[in-house]
Amino acid sequence: MPERPSVPRHLLGIEGLTAGQIAPFLDLAESYALLSRSRSAPRDALRGRTVINLFFEDSTRTRTSFELAGKRLGADVINMTVATSSVNKGETLLDTASTLNAMRCDLLVVRHGQSGAPALLSQKVEASVVNAGDGTHEHPTQALLDALTIRRHFGRLEGLTIAICGDVGHSRVARSNIHLLTALGNSIRLVGPPTLLPSAMAELGNVTLYSDMDEALKGTDVVMSLRLQKERMGAGLVPSSREYFRFFGLDRRRLALANPGALVMHPGPMNRGVEIASDVADSDQSVIAEQVEMGVAVRMAVLDRLSRARMPS
Ligand code: NCD
Repeated sequence: MPERPSVPRHLLGIEGLTAGQIAPFLDLAESYALLSRSRSAPRDALRGRTVINLFFEDSTRTRTSFELAGKRLGADVINMTVATSSVNKGETLLDTASTLNAMRCDLLVVRHGQSGAPALLSQKVEASVVNAGDGTHEHPTQALLDALTIRRHFGRLEGLTIAICGDVGHSRVARSNIHLLTALGNSIRLVGPPTLLPSAMAELGNVTLYSDMDEALKGTDVVMSLRLQKERMGAGLVPSSREYFRFFGLDRRRLALANPGALVMHPGPMNRGVEIASDVADSDQSVIAEQVEMGVAVRMAVLDRLSRARMPS
């Protein structure tokens, strides 16, 4: 029987990963964050490797972040943006898989509108697959970069109370964060209109559901705001943007209910004045720009570790 590799071959989600499997990604990312600041990342870690960014859904920061991460480590990075509107998705995926196999790429970064698409591809391609967001399912590198940002501020990643606010139901970011943060021993509060907060989410571990934003924010260490994912919504799930902001917008008054110095986070893209007030997004409690910076470091760590899993021993 072949020996079980100590590093995973793919990163398809956070669900099921243990604290011990999560920590090495964060530790390596932490060192890459420092090296990136001093512009001394090892440019040969991925030399000769090919990374393909295969994006079936729009993305600015995630795609750019993976591209930069690969390039900072010396990989050849190719971006493929695929229009899905006119083609059958199942067929496209399988066709794409055989094309990619023929190209012999090493790492495949996939974003897709359908939950489970990266996992399906991982069974059909020889490359290591990284899920860069699939439908409403998971966005593992976002959860890792959020975790790293939180850990850098508190010096730990356990025993914290974290509120995740807004369109939780459609959010793969929320799902991956819930898996990661509960696996490490934090308490999660989910808050949003009942139409955007599936009650089944209360079963995901140390998770409490709230419909009152003020109540949810009291005594929290981190407030994570989420975009209203209108593209994934049917009609009638939310009132007007103005009314939504009145009940669920993160403004200064509400932020003052959280613990002093609580971190304000948002995965982007933000709708200022809808889920978050502009002055809160730009306040000194906001770590939104640092999340973006940690995103590159985390993706360097993920590409590096997965490519090591592929190295012949
Ligand atoms: C998120 C995504 O695509 O899931 N954005 C991101 O990756 N930076 C969140 C969102 O689209 O609202």
